[in-house]
Amino acid sequence: MGGNGSVASATEVYGSIKPANDSLGTLYFTDYQSDASQVNVTLHPESNIICQISSANNYDKVQIDGLLSYSNRTEDFDTSEKMPYLSIELTDTMLTVNDEFVLLTATEKSGTDWGFNIIYPKAYTWVTEERQDSSGSYMVVAKVTSLDYSGQGDIEIGGDEDNTFQGYPNDDWSYDITDNTPLRTYADILGKKIGVAAASYRYDCSRNDGETGLVGNQFNIIVGENEMKFDATEPNKNSFNYGGSDAIVWVASRFNQEVRGHTLAWHSQVPEWVSQDGKKNNHNYTRQELLSILKNHIFNVVGKYKGKIVEWDVCNEVLDDDQSIVRTNPDAYKLRPSIWATYIGEDFIDSAFVWAHQADPQAKLYINDYGVEFMGGTKSEAYYNLVKRLIKSGIPIEGCGLQCHLTTGELDTLKLEKNIKRYAEIGMKCIITELDIALANPYSTDALERQAKEYGAITRVFLRNDNCPTMLIWGISDNHSWRQNQPLLYNSSLKPKPAYYNVHAQLRIAANRVTSVEKPSSLDELSIKEIRFYNMTGQLTTNPSGLVIKQTIYTNGTVITTKEIK
Ligand code: XIL
Repeated sequence: MGGNGSVASATEVYGSIKPANDSLGTLYFTDYQSDASQVNVTLHPESNIICQISSANNYDKVQIDGLLSYSNRTEDFDTSEKMPYLSIELTDTMLTVNDEFVLLTATEKSGTDWGFNIIYPKAYTWVTEERQDSSGSYMVVAKVTSLDYSGQGDIEIGGDEDNTFQGYPNDDWSYDITDNTPLRTYADILGKKIGVAAASYRYDCSRNDGETGLVGNQFNIIVGENEMKFDATEPNKNSFNYGGSDAIVWVASRFNQEVRGHTLAWHSQVPEWVSQDGKKNNHNYTRQELLSILKNHIFNVVGKYKGKIVEWDVCNEVLDDDQSIVRTNPDAYKLRPSIWATYIGEDFIDSAFVWAHQADPQAKLYINDYGVEFMGGTKSEAYYNLVKRLIKSGIPIEGCGLQCHLTTGELDTLKLEKNIKRYAEIGMKCIITELDIALANPYSTDALERQAKEYGAITRVFLRNDNCPTMLIWGISDNHSWRQNQPLLYNSSLKPKPAYYNVHAQLRIAANRVTSVEKPSSLDELSIKEIRFYNMTGQLTTNPSGLVIKQTIYTNGTVITTKEIK
């Protein structure tokens, strides 16, 4: 919501409100039709009120002619503990000590057990006070207490509680840019898989540099962005094409990586001979015929890569976007109409898993979907219900994938982590399969920084949950992404972005917590190329003393990082 004006009915704020779009303004929550009635406003954990200040007298205001309250029943089921945000933004302005700004007023604030998370500008030092005026009205007042900047603008949005590592500010990736250890080295130390979607047709997979070099050198697992989908592998009935999928497997074998298979039963990217749009049965197949089409496909493709593909997304995006059914029936879920769901029935899922398991009993089998990331969302609840149903039916399922196609501002690490943890409780892995975070405001000066923080926060969730062994990013560089607005780790010139450095920093911080690392036996003293020391703030030092980080770089490119007291 943004603009100058008024809102006139009981209002719930789930996202951001900004009194004016471009300039300054006042947003009134007032009912002009009836003097008596008030407009009550409820804020939620994600609510963000953004007020801009341009001078001592000129600034945004929010005026609520009614009760201001807070609810953490963000969606029907959730109880996030996060408090709403109040962000103060400055346009270039000169303020003086004791300048005061009444940013928000309401006739009353309901409940005392909540307050705002204040996001201060990165200039001056501020206090914010909740006050009542003589008539008892509630207000939030921001005041400048010093012209020096005290660092209080560094609050992280995202509900992430892990700020415990001593020595590194959690998100200060600038310390990290001297360290060119690949992501996968730290992931290996941690026993984690950090992956990327590779695209054999977008760049030259036979090279060892460029995109392929980044895909191969930085990550220890890859997935074909399109190469293993039904239309790619079986473009004509019972005629299989493994050109693209072989290229992916070839890259992985050259770079010693694992491969994920994506995907076997999906409503999208199916060839015309199966269905013209993935939903219609325009060839009038019988249920039996469709079952044999799916079975033949799965046996061929999974069988072809038996022992080479460690895990498969067996079913992709089977859930309907509308899961309002869970509001009345909390254990329910609704399937999306597809050639498989509509003309076979729900048991196409069960059969697909069983066939994939028969074709390669070692392969780990996953279900995968989007919009299921955050606990409390109706689709997330439906997903959980479906996974529980599959377990109950004895289906060989290893876990579920959260695609995580996000836009900055959407990440709620608390709800994400709660979601991942509840899968652990039912014995399921829960992995991040297709992460990308598009910029909500690509032209704002801190867009890349904000994106980096969210990448960092999600990496920390991944690292601290054992049932989340894998995190894959959906593409390598912004120019090759399927989405707009620069969602990936590398820019179009293949330069690492702040997001890369923050993912790197989080992996490095976690890996450095692992105090002793076993050296692979092929590495001996003779093959050491270089030893580097970093101090605990991450700076390269030639004069190590006290607790330092030691990087041993071997001639074969392996980098082992340990902590040492000098
Ligand atoms: C996307 C690819 O990235 C695009 O290149 C293609 O045109 C369409 O599919 N969910 C999935 C992925 O499971 O397979 C999709 O990949 C993105 C959404």
